[in-house]
Amino acid sequence: MFKRLTAVLTALCLMLCGCALAQEEKFVSYHSDFSSGTDGWYARSAGGASISVQDGALTIVGRTGSWNSPGRDFPLEAGKEYALSVQVRQDAVASATFMISVAHSSLGVESYENLVTGAAAKGEWVTLSGTWTPAPFDNFILYVETVGNDTLDFSIRDFTVKLYEMKVDEEIPSLKEAFAAYFPVGTAVTQMEARNTRRMDVYASQFAIVTPGNELKPDSVLDIAACKKLAKEDETAVAVHFNAAQPMLSYCRDHQIKVHGHVLVWHSQTPDAFFRESYSTGKPYVSREIMLARLDNYIRLIMEYMQEKYPGVIVSWDVVNEAIDDGTGKLRASNWTKVIGEDFVERAFEIARKYAPADTRLYYNDYNSHLAPKADGIIALLTRLAAEGNIDGYGFQSHYSSGGVMLSRIRNMFEQVEALGLRVRVSELDITIDNTSDPMLKAQAYCYKNLFGLYMEHAAHIDAVQFWGVTDDLSWLAAKHPLIFDARIQPKPAFWAIMELVQ
Ligand code: XIL
Repeated sequence: MFKRLTAVLTALCLMLCGCALAQEEKFVSYHSDFSSGTDGWYARSAGGASISVQDGALTIVGRTGSWNSPGRDFPLEAGKEYALSVQVRQDAVASATFMISVAHSSLGVESYENLVTGAAAKGEWVTLSGTWTPAPFDNFILYVETVGNDTLDFSIRDFTVKLYEMKVDEEIPSLKEAFAAYFPVGTAVTQMEARNTRRMDVYASQFAIVTPGNELKPDSVLDIAACKKLAKEDETAVAVHFNAAQPMLSYCRDHQIKVHGHVLVWHSQTPDAFFRESYSTGKPYVSREIMLARLDNYIRLIMEYMQEKYPGVIVSWDVVNEAIDDGTGKLRASNWTKVIGEDFVERAFEIARKYAPADTRLYYNDYNSHLAPKADGIIALLTRLAAEGNIDGYGFQSHYSSGGVMLSRIRNMFEQVEALGLRVRVSELDITIDNTSDPMLKAQAYCYKNLFGLYMEHAAHIDAVQFWGVTDDLSWLAAKHPLIFDARIQPKPAFWAIMELVQ
């Protein structure tokens, strides 16, 4: 009897799993116009909120928290890219911000990501849309929530999620090949993009060098919980991990793409706890000596790990980022200046040089370096660093707007850096525009072309030219369309303008 029951249960289970799998494999697209009920949607809340459907829209009322939302389960697959879209409307406040978010779980632990954000003015239907590539999780709930406005009633309609088909034109010429005689062309990549090998393969055809956009910053690398444990024995001990960067580093290693490391020392994206006794925010700062020892351990552990797991992959590092203040040209006040003091930049380079492989290039990296008084401050800092002999070059971040590319000032700064005997890197290039009208796209193309003309003139001094991202939709400045590929990875006029220089 027991055996028979087990067999029946097993068969049932197999059938169910089979269905689930078949459904998963089949999942290509979903669209709800809410013409036939709630269609699997439910209210996400601790009890108070409820949903109803009328006239092709789903409305949620009775919310008590921003996460109270209409949600629905979707059988998404890791590594596939999905296009998401929904219309939202509210009739209560002048403007409210909405997000399409996802709740996913792994081994029973739920976690969340915000995928698409947009604002809706009172009484207007507004479309939120974007793309997303999931990491491996056991299940996914997509939902539409507010930012703040915890009790706002709102409606959604036309919710769409579909496999995003990248139509990649095989005929697109390769930037990295076109500029190979001048300098390596590269880009920043984020971990979400790195999950999608189809996308990465396109990037690999265009770019020779990659910078992890966030994944090697201290807030990704430092393991504060583990540091706290170590600090009980030794306040100078440091623990690190590379969970966010690993997939990207492995892809680059396996596809002969070089990696530029960004960044060892920065005032931003660095946990305050790094500077505190017992690694605990709220406790006093540690002494200069302890902080220098922590920094020494931090950089040593990173270099050792990379040498062991990814030898030869990382060819260069931003040792320090954005240390100079825009307004004064002096050192920016930060936890680094407070705890180590005015020579923290020099000490960071000294430590990086001690542990980096001999042929690894080390840079100081900053933005707006063509503007006074910052330009003078940067040159003064570079002069001090060059005298100590631990620096190879300066990284021009190069975040511009189409109205603000001051070519002659940038050229002048290139010349000053070169005169110090330092290499030039264009590390984070993007040029924002206000909209994607033809005149704006042309203005952007013109700026990119002029800049690349300058880079070609200085090619003998340039180690790499890297964009800060590939497609506009995934840029950190997505609202201002700053890159040379559109959301469908099709070249924009700027791409062709750059290419004209070498054809
Ligand atoms: C940006 C990332 O692109 C964003 O995803 C993140 O939220 C903030 O940082 N200068 C730098 C980069 O040196 O590290 C910054 O990257 C952009 C400005």
